[in-house]
Amino acid sequence: MKSIIIAIDGYSSCGKSTTARLVAQRLQYLFIDSGAMYRAVTWYFLEKGIDSQNVTEIEAHLPSINIEFRQLPDATMPAVFLNDQLIESEIRAPRIAAVVSEYSAIPCIRKAMVKQQQIMGEFGGVVMDGRDIGTVVFPQAELKLFLTADIDIRVKRRSIELEHKGYNQSPEEIKRNLLHRDYVDTHRSEGPLLKASDAIEIDTTFHTVESQVELVISMFEKIISYPAKINS
Ligand code: DC
Repeated sequence: MKSIIIAIDGYSSCGKSTTARLVAQRLQYLFIDSGAMYRAVTWYFLEKGIDSQNVTEIEAHLPSINIEFRQLPDATMPAVFLNDQLIESEIRAPRIAAVVSEYSAIPCIRKAMVKQQQIMGEFGGVVMDGRDIGTVVFPQAELKLFLTADIDIRVKRRSIELEHKGYNQSPEEIKRNLLHRDYVDTHRSEGPLLKASDAIEIDTTFHTVESQVELVISMFEKIISYPAKINS
């Protein structure tokens, strides 16, 4: 079967990573959570005490940062390692979410991450989710999706996710963080969050995870059967 690239972009907590992971599992494709890479870089600079304003220092450190995804036994998704250190749970903490958009907006960080993402997906057979996958990382992706959802549903989803991970944040704090990230992610100069002109928008507000996955799989099957007809 032909191996294509599926790009899933959209706002935070619209179900991108969950959908991407399950679609990748169904198709036996590689799943890459590009947001995890920006979170990992952010974790690194916070650990080093390097502020997001200190671009000179950030640029000097970038070549010594190696991010990898490794499948651990019994895990549902690949875990993030930075320079061989497992940091999967650290990068999901609210302290990372609070500042990840500031670090993600720095052009030299984006350049380094985009390059790594393009290498990871160069042979196709990949489902990658993020903010700029269909516009910058893989503008040639055969299937591009743009996920949206009502803000209150997004807050609820993030709240459940954080609770599962043992964090306690009020809905107001979560909403503030999501809206802040939406703003910074859409207004940066380099690789802003943007719906590609050929992306298909899916409002996930009233979808279940299962129905989202089925929808994407049906689009995938259409592309594989009739490559030219997906947007007609
Ligand atoms: O998908 P996520 O919430 O884990 O992403 C965390 C942050 O990383 C998000 O607020 C913006 C940034 N990001 C980005 O700038 N570009 C991407 N392709 C993916 C994520």
